[in-house]
Amino acid sequence: MVISGETRAKIEAEIAKYPRRRGGLLPALHLVQKETGWISLETAREVAEIFGIEPVDVMEVVSFYNMFYDRPQGRHHVNVCTNLPCSLRGSRDLLRGLEAHLGVEAGKTTPDGRITLGHEECLGACGYAPMMRVDDRYHEDLDLDAAKKIVDGLE
Ligand code: FES
Repeated sequence: MVISGETRAKIEAEIAKYPRRRGGLLPALHLVQKETGWISLETAREVAEIFGIEPVDVMEVVSFYNMFYDRPQGRHHVNVCTNLPCSLRGSRDLLRGLEAHLGVEAGKTTPDGRITLGHEECLGACGYAPMMRVDDRYHEDLDLDAAKKIVDGLE
């Protein structure tokens, strides 16, 4: 069993907040991913059982939202915004520079499992472009040296 009893209890508490059981699926996936780091097919089967739905229904949700992961992830997520305002202020070069610095392409994880590098669409901080999100924290007005210093400081 992948999902712990403690997480299952939290999921049931979330489900109780919704008129229909399935309404608790997104919070449940957040809870499960917090525990497991990503949503494997085996995990999706267990979630599906809890909700009385098919595993494919769970994986559809996982693949739709970019905050859920269907493969193992690094301990930190570094996501450079590559939407237009950030791109006009150099974010694509910033991303290429980080790829070279970390030795991985966007979408991949460093061999030591420390960082999964990625890019994403506008994070609502266009006035401080270019920016990137590291886990839950925004870093703004970046240049490549500042971005390298930030990623080098991650454990
Ligand atoms: Fe990058 Fe909006 S375009 S935060």
